[in-house]
Amino acid sequence: MVAVDSAGTPGKDGAPAQIEPFPPLTALRRDFIWGVSTSSYQIEGATREGGRGVCVWDPEGRRGVIPGKDTGDIACDHYHRYPEDVALMQRLGIQAYRFSVAWPRILPQGRGQANETGLAFYDRLIDMLLAAGIEPWLCLYHWDLPQALDDLGGWTARDSVGWFADYAAIVADRYGDRVKRFATFNEPSIFTLFGYGFGESNRDTTEADALHRAIHHVNLSHGAAVDVIRARVAGSSVGSIHNVQPCLPSSLADVKAARICDAYWNRAYPDPQYRGVYPDLLKAAIEPYMQPGDLERIHRPLDWFGLNHYSPIYLRDDPGSRFGFNFGDRPPNTPVTPVDWAIVPEGFRDTLLNLAKDFRLPIYVMENGLGAYDKPDAQGTVIDKERIAYLRDYIAAMNDAAAAGADIRGYFVWSLLDNFEWDSGYAVRFGLTYVDYATQKRIPKASFDWYRALIKTAALRP
Ligand code: FCB
Repeated sequence: MVAVDSAGTPGKDGAPAQIEPFPPLTALRRDFIWGVSTSSYQIEGATREGGRGVCVWDPEGRRGVIPGKDTGDIACDHYHRYPEDVALMQRLGIQAYRFSVAWPRILPQGRGQANETGLAFYDRLIDMLLAAGIEPWLCLYHWDLPQALDDLGGWTARDSVGWFADYAAIVADRYGDRVKRFATFNEPSIFTLFGYGFGESNRDTTEADALHRAIHHVNLSHGAAVDVIRARVAGSSVGSIHNVQPCLPSSLADVKAARICDAYWNRAYPDPQYRGVYPDLLKAAIEPYMQPGDLERIHRPLDWFGLNHYSPIYLRDDPGSRFGFNFGDRPPNTPVTPVDWAIVPEGFRDTLLNLAKDFRLPIYVMENGLGAYDKPDAQGTVIDKERIAYLRDYIAAMNDAAAAGADIRGYFVWSLLDNFEWDSGYAVRFGLTYVDYATQKRIPKASFDWYRALIKTAALRP
């Protein structure tokens, strides 16, 4: 542990000299919410306990085994250690915690009979959060689709809309007395592009248009869930969470590629959900799956826009590729994180300003953070200066966007804990807290103390 004083400067107990001072917070609202985010598959573990069914990310599931053979079987063992994790959140001083519910824990087969043991787990978690004075923000779907539903076509089947609405109803009925903040989907563009679009899904090779069907059905599922939550939860506040990153051409010849990627990555979901239209570039591809009234079914009133943002992406034309674009080079000398993601805080500021202009709703930053290969030093501490510098610069960029008029209401760091980072397994760490996976010991990193002091300072602003 490194003590950090209210200016963000480390204390005397052996901490290194320059932990970054705080960014300006002058333009942020008095009631600004500071939080952290996690997701079920990435932290819970206990995948074969409490009656949970198989999901597509389990080793038995469609996505199969990740290189290096990492699985979410144990992950951070949060299913058992949640009291310790809530205590960490309390120590951090956050006002809100975003987590996701594992659909296969609630409905092991994806539909049919609900699993009381799974439901009871989130009861305990929610009650403990509320007792700690932390507002629960519940996301219905963070990628752990029940395998039984994937076997029926998953999101490529229009039936998925009914499956998701029924699942949303169970969750809303059970927790709606205590949870008011609901997000329908986390990053729909990412799980559909990577799951159905880029050829990583088994089904992808046989179903040429799986991606476009999935996009439309996930959008319809979102709309259906919004209606379900509103009808069942008094005082609910509903949004969805999108991964929006500037799509930049690698060279002047790549402008078209950047535009196509932008349509799939940044617009395929926000445009219909928040404005009732598909981007022009996608209209023809979605049309075959469109039924009368679908756009109204998708475009339901929402209370906020959830933004996950990390880094711009650079694109190059690739006429041989399925959608005409591929990932390209970034400009030389762009600063990068330890896992090679470009660091461009102005891109974050501009993204916030564009979203504010396009959608005119309060924005919550639901994920932002830095991935690295953190290791404890000889004293057992983790001094993650790069993460602190990244958070400082991105929070400063957010303050700039607020100063320029964007209505930003909250910021959630990804993530509370190091966790199962999808295709990168456990190698890449995004936590404010280091997890020693062999012992499950949690070690708050220097960034944990820095963020804690920042939250305290923000609260003390005149
Ligand atoms: C986002 C995901 C989240 C995590 C971070 C690093 O795309 O929503 O689960 O993996 O990236």
